[in-house]
Amino acid sequence: MRQEIEQRKQRRILITGGAGFIGSNFVRHWCEKYPSDSIIVLDALTYAGNLNNIADLQDRDNFRFVKGDICDRPLIDRLLREENIDTIAHFAAESHVDRSILGPDAFIKTNIVGSFTLLDSFRHYWIEQGKIHDYLFLHVSTDEVYGSLGQEDPAFRETTAYAPNSPYSASKASSDHLARAYYHTYGMPTIITNCSNNYGPYHFPEKLIPLMCINILLGKPLPVYGDGQNIRDWLYVGDHCHALDTVIHQGKPGETYNIGGNNEVKNIDLVTQLCDLMDELAPNLPVKPARDLIAFVKDRPGHDRRYAIDATKIKTELGWTPQENVEAGLRKTIAWYLNNRDWWQPLLSKEYQDYYQQVYS
Ligand code: NAD
Ligand code: TYD
Repeated sequence: MRQEIEQRKQRRILITGGAGFIGSNFVRHWCEKYPSDSIIVLDALTYAGNLNNIADLQDRDNFRFVKGDICDRPLIDRLLREENIDTIAHFAAESHVDRSILGPDAFIKTNIVGSFTLLDSFRHYWIEQGKIHDYLFLHVSTDEVYGSLGQEDPAFRETTAYAPNSPYSASKASSDHLARAYYHTYGMPTIITNCSNNYGPYHFPEKLIPLMCINILLGKPLPVYGDGQNIRDWLYVGDHCHALDTVIHQGKPGETYNIGGNNEVKNIDLVTQLCDLMDELAPNLPVKPARDLIAFVKDRPGHDRRYAIDATKIKTELGWTPQENVEAGLRKTIAWYLNNRDWWQPLLSKEYQDYYQQVYS
């Protein structure tokens, strides 16, 4: 286990997808915790990327934002050398299952070809640098690669066989296999993390929790897919950032770590709880009780029934456990959306309305 107890090595970290939801929370976490490190954010600013997510950080010393695509090999080759990168935290991805059903192409390109481009560029650079042992490529992935669980099945472990069911999860599974292969074939220090559903500040409105918060504030129907009995394990994004920090500092190259929130909830129960909290916290709701807005809609094709994470390995080997329960995490998240209308209102653009029509009409 790589310990950094006495004197922590300063890092030069490349964070891909750092203008997205989890990436931007991670950038903020890293800036606050390790102000002397050099942080280079690479993001293509797709519909899901938003410079406002990290606007307050950009004037810091040791911080650089680069707008660019992870598929752009010459750019990656140049950036690694120009910035003497020793750590890559790879978040950049197409991340929404419903969009992957409407159009998988971008998922194949970014999640598979883009991840390959980064891995292979880093391999050449790492060899050129003399295969320094504490360089690291952290590949951030999802529990969705393991497929769907029945009610009584044991939670996903790191050894659970991959069985992805959506174009999104299949593309993430593919990139996980590449990251694994780069360790086994070339010895390149690579770690994979597979985490459950995140929620918290800066979450793009298309995902379940922000979509429901915003629709409640606007008095719009709350579309629950199918019978609402699907189960997800909810992980507060701040907990996820701490877990990734722990993995970067103490994780073992070649290993995979599952990261979960210990918060399995049925969708309908989560939405109902969110409605009740909104009734309590949000002034002047257009429809109250907000539960009256719940509307069951046609199910998502291939909708995975249940995800659950067994996070024993990261707990016993690295000492990490999640701190947030769903109610406390939802309260913080709701407060953030209530206080940051200026952030989310512009995101309800024509592109978003067109997407919404396609999925929900
Ligand atoms: P997000 O969609 O909010 O952000 C993705 C970011 O990547 C955006 O800023 C986007 O502009 C950028 N990006 C997309 N394509 C790019 C490209 N070709 N080149 C450079 N940048 C590009 O996603 P998120 O929810 O923050 O997820 C981050 C990572 O975590 C993803 O790899 C995702 O698969 C994984 N993950 C997310 C969740 C979750 O609940 N959100 C759960 C498990 C795993
Ligand atoms: P989502 O936030 O899209 O994450 P994922 O599909 O990656 O788990 O969805 C979380 C759960 O909520 C999932 O079971 C699908 C369901 N869902 C709805 O019922 N209605 C919605 O409008 C959305 C976006 C999701």
